[in-house]
Amino acid sequence: MGQRLVLDGVGVRFGDAAALEGVTLSVKPGEKLAVIGASGAGKSTLFRTLTRSVALGSGSVTVGGRNLYALSWRELGATRRRVGTIHQAYNLVPELSAGMNAALGEVGGLGRLATLRTLLLGPDAGLSRRVEGALQQVGLGERVRARTADLSGGQQQRVAVARLLVQRPGLILADEPFAAVDPVTAERVMAALLDLNREGATLLVNLHDVAAARTFPRIVALREGRIAFDGEPKDLTDEMLAGIYEGDEKRVQHEEEKLGSRRREPMRVAEGRDGVSAH
Ligand SMILES: Nc1ncnc2c1ncn2[C@@H]1O[C@H](COP(=O)(O)OP(=O)(O)OP(=O)(O)O)[C@@H](O)[C@H]1O
Ligand SMILES: [Mg+2]
Repeated sequence: MGQRLVLDGVGVRFGDAAALEGVTLSVKPGEKLAVIGASGAGKSTLFRTLTRSVALGSGSVTVGGRNLYALSWRELGATRRRVGTIHQAYNLVPELSAGMNAALGEVGGLGRLATLRTLLLGPDAGLSRRVEGALQQVGLGERVRARTADLSGGQQQRVAVARLLVQRPGLILADEPFAAVDPVTAERVMAALLDLNREGATLLVNLHDVAAARTFPRIVALREGRIAFDGEPKDLTDEMLAGIYEGDEKRVQHEEEKLGSRRREPMRVAEGRDGVSAH
């Protein structure tokens, strides 16, 4: 279901400043990886190159062997429909119900007439069942008809995940999906993303939590727009991490505090980590 992604010498500039520089990266279909790096390192920009949502200054991006930046608008539309994104600004329509927002995961792939019919009359029986199933999976089975704006931030985030479950994208770009949610929601969201990955979707998750990133088989770290590390978590040393987050004082302090608590409570943290990586 997923397609191979290849970034080759990708550079992106905003005015004088380079957001990405010489980024070369290859992701296999169905792979899952975590992207880490200090604030401003270029993580979100990297994701934007994968939907052609930002102009390239240099290099190329290919998706399934095709140059993403050379596709026609029609082809680009088809490619984008295969991409599911989830980030802090959930992209939901606040005035619509939770169920309708989840149904929009499918609507992107429908023709114009079917889209109109869905918006006016509601999803057909088959789609309704999938929407209900998806909302149940994220623990919102009772809220299908709730107005999305009336849901809490974490609940809205779960609606966004339900939309992904309905959409079944080949590529998932999750940009800090756990930034504003409680640990239980975070685990649910992660479980749903990993489910989609197991079914064949390529999964790229940008995580601020290094411990969570370490549960992924591959970590890509960005520093000042360049790739500072690309490999297995076991090869990512504390010294490298310090370099990656250098200058990000708040982050370093946060990590040190966590390291401190890990030393004090080794059992608890180890269990928690296994719980996540077992998915
Ligand atoms: N639309 C834009 N216009 C101008 N500069 C931008 C734009 N988007 C990003 N940048 C700049 O590019 C750099 C990389 O930004 P990006 O959003 O990719 O960082 P990030 O790693 O996602 O950071 P964070 O962890 O804070 O989300 C930053 O210096 C940022 O200010
Ligand atoms: Mg970002």
